[in-house]
Amino acid sequence: MTNSDKRKILVTSALPYANGDIHIGHLLEYVQTDIWVRFQKSRGHECYYVCADDTHGTPVMLRAQKEGKTPEDFIAEQKANHERDFAGALIGFDNFHSTHSPESKELTQGIYLKLKEQGHISSKTINQLFDPEKNMFLPDRFVKGTCPKCGSEEQYGDNCDNCGSTYSPTDLKNPKSAVSGATPVLKESEHFFFDLKGFEGFLRDWLSNDDHVQLEVQNKMNEWLDDLRQWDISRDAPYFGWEIPGEEGKYFYVWLDAPIGYMASFKNLCDRTEGLSFDDYWNKDSDAEIYHFIGKDIIYFHTLFWPSVLKGSGYRTPTAVWAHGFVTVNGQKMSKSKGTFIKAKTYLEHLNAEYLRYYYAAKLSSKIDDFDLNLEDFAQRVNTDLVNKLVNIASRCSGFITKQFDSKLSNIVVEPNLLAEFTSASDSIAAHYENRDFGKAIKQIMALADKANAYIAEKEPWKLVKSEESKLEAHQVCSMGINMFKVLVTYLTPVLPSLAQKVEDFLNLESMAWSTAQNVLVDYEISKFKPMMQRIEMKSVNAVVEASKEDLEAEADKENKAELSDPIKEEIQFGDFDKIDLRIAKIAKAEHVEGADKLLKLQLDLGEGVTKQVFAGIKSAYKPEDLEGKLTVMVANLAPRKMKFGMSEGMVLAAGPGGSDLWILNPDDGAQPGMRVK
Ligand code: 2FM
Ligand code: ZN
Repeated sequence: MTNSDKRKILVTSALPYANGDIHIGHLLEYVQTDIWVRFQKSRGHECYYVCADDTHGTPVMLRAQKEGKTPEDFIAEQKANHERDFAGALIGFDNFHSTHSPESKELTQGIYLKLKEQGHISSKTINQLFDPEKNMFLPDRFVKGTCPKCGSEEQYGDNCDNCGSTYSPTDLKNPKSAVSGATPVLKESEHFFFDLKGFEGFLRDWLSNDDHVQLEVQNKMNEWLDDLRQWDISRDAPYFGWEIPGEEGKYFYVWLDAPIGYMASFKNLCDRTEGLSFDDYWNKDSDAEIYHFIGKDIIYFHTLFWPSVLKGSGYRTPTAVWAHGFVTVNGQKMSKSKGTFIKAKTYLEHLNAEYLRYYYAAKLSSKIDDFDLNLEDFAQRVNTDLVNKLVNIASRCSGFITKQFDSKLSNIVVEPNLLAEFTSASDSIAAHYENRDFGKAIKQIMALADKANAYIAEKEPWKLVKSEESKLEAHQVCSMGINMFKVLVTYLTPVLPSLAQKVEDFLNLESMAWSTAQNVLVDYEISKFKPMMQRIEMKSVNAVVEASKEDLEAEADKENKAELSDPIKEEIQFGDFDKIDLRIAKIAKAEHVEGADKLLKLQLDLGEGVTKQVFAGIKSAYKPEDLEGKLTVMVANLAPRKMKFGMSEGMVLAAGPGGSDLWILNPDDGAQPGMRVK
């Protein structure tokens, strides 16, 4: 390759959310991108693959709170988990960074300031639902209530699972905050907007080039282009993210800094890589190529917002944005209860990453169609193609070479025309990889594997080797076999990097870069063949499914534990505490409440003739008869609340995670009703 043929390429996959585990649905995208990147590298191009955790936003903030951690600690743990899973799946990032990084902060704030300077930012006051208990504005997904269309209860603030209608959270009937359960109130706040509408002309032009987006995407785009709106890029405190410069208490919405994370990760790589320049790739006049691989659910962000933000802040725009479809498992959406919501970690505990990489490659095209991972088909396909067809070529031929021919391949290629069929497929297979038509590449490679096997089956070297006069031919046939095998594995290197490494060792090769497919091995010493790939046993696949059901139980368990270790609430002053009048009370009477699952009705005696009626949610732990006559601690000055079953005039104090593990605070002997608790 001459220097002028050498391309400079930067590639990204969508940044995984820091609050979720990597599952096999995510892996489709990382495998797709990784194959494409490995292919480019093997062709000798300068290609970098960067990614990062997408760390900001309300869900991460609340999840960390729930687990009693700082968001920083929480995202650090998640990053380690993600990196472990990606390494296991052989995803070869050049850098895996974080959006909670100095590079991200600098770039995000810098981009915002440029957009503002260029007049692309405006502000206006909007009304939004606010949780008065948590003191925070509520994102749509954190408001639940009754669907305004069909009346179905417990629906999210943006759309209804039952009837599919979409609405604004203020349309919900009986809205509740999913964070605290409080009834949200409408509150005003100043928000900042990016002028997407102002980029309509640019976008129409950019999107009309089908090098930039797939055709299917272009069609969808036209609908969206007719309806561009200003994009709300700010959120109010409390929010885990970057503060907007000069606007105290206002933060950038996570979707502004997420794609900037691509740049941040690359910047971090440049800063520690000699000779690699950030500007070479991102400057307006850069001749480098930039590709974003994404799922079809986030096309809008990547083909409307992202190019406009880049354009508006003076950077170059992506060479292309490539979307893929989703994976179903056994014909259905991944399901936790069926055990088909398979986490990367669970898969990798039972199965080899290359099985999945191969299966995905075989199914992938440049289109955005969904495809199915049928688990039986998966096992069968991998066993047939990789074990029976591919590796079998080497295992059939290598034994004779080692034992009978001193580990040396013959000094001639006995069927040059046949071998030429293999080597001359290089350009066509390369074009399929280049176009992300991996399924076509695999098909062509496997058709060649069939040819190799047919040749060996026809020649029957195991028979030839038995007599002296045909022994030479056996040597030549087996050497042909090894040469054909080498070419096939070279073509599969982007998909099966670990197998390729084993073959490199077996064949004493220095490299299996794409062009080496043309090198023919004659009069050449090889190493002893070692098993390279086991068959998939259905019992391992079933074990993954079973373990994924177990994951679900572990998750439920974790939820309970999280409640047990509920983080300590916001600090209060002594004066706040002093307002609470805690008293010893005698449970004079305890009874069931008709129609209530959790409540008991208690009559509490506070001495000196004072009694209070309290409804307490302790039915799961106590029988009424066991409570009567006992002493407990109560909040005596809580404002009476009207409940469905009557007035409640205080609160008894209990501890525990819930269910039967709940203990009312039970003072020792010597306490008297009415005594103050200090
Ligand atoms: O949809 C998602 O999973 C997002 N975390 C993707 C972000 S991609 C990019 F914009 F950073
Ligand atoms: Zn509905």
